[in-house]
Amino acid sequence: MKPLIAGNWKMNGLSDDAKALAEDLKARSAAGLPACELLVCPPFLHIAQVAGILQGTEIRVGGQDCHTAGSGAHTGDVSGDMLRDLGCGYVILGHSERRADHGENDALVRAKAEAAQAAGLVPIVCVGETADQRAAGEALAVIARQLKGSVPVGMAAERLVIAYEPVWAIGTGQTATPDDVVEVHREIRKLLVGLVGEGSDRVRILYGGSVKPANAAELLGQANVDGALVGGASLKAEDFWAIAASCP
Ligand code: PGA
Repeated sequence: MKPLIAGNWKMNGLSDDAKALAEDLKARSAAGLPACELLVCPPFLHIAQVAGILQGTEIRVGGQDCHTAGSGAHTGDVSGDMLRDLGCGYVILGHSERRADHGENDALVRAKAEAAQAAGLVPIVCVGETADQRAAGEALAVIARQLKGSVPVGMAAERLVIAYEPVWAIGTGQTATPDDVVEVHREIRKLLVGLVGEGSDRVRILYGGSVKPANAAELLGQANVDGALVGGASLKAEDFWAIAASCP
């Protein structure tokens, strides 16, 4: 299974910044990609520009969210069909920032994942516990609940990616220990057997939360860690590339 290194640009950068970052990545890709699949998820407004720059490279483009409907009266929203139309292959769903900022719950994330799949996109479904939940010893239970609630039953393994992102590790510089990551990813892998069935070992499980060049090799070298979802460090082409180059 080829690891997936996904950059989540979040709500960062004006169009000139997006252009410069995409052009830098394109220049680096000319000499070939590291041993992984590389994906960038810019803000919606920059997707067309970034996809245009990266056309002809092997770097893929994705969205950071999509609506449950294909089109219609949903002011301010974007559909999976629109993302697909611009060349996206993936969409991040249920990120903890969307769960917190927009009150997204598991049922909504699942409906979005179904819509994404219907639009031909691979959903990257995010799960992860808060610091309080971890301190209370509830991390695995929370992740199991989110996973069972957010992942549509019977999805094809190759058309699904899970990202484990402990909320307390996102943007904080604090990273989960390799042991914690291994424990959670093993649990996710086990739960996927019931959710995906046949081929569940082919679902890629990414780790996310303060991944940077200095810790990438150790994290990516752990069992059942099939890539990374990278926020802050994906905004610097050099760092993002160094993380990708850390894939075993
Ligand atoms: P971070 O964000 O790498 O800045 O911690 C990760 C994410 O939220 O996807």
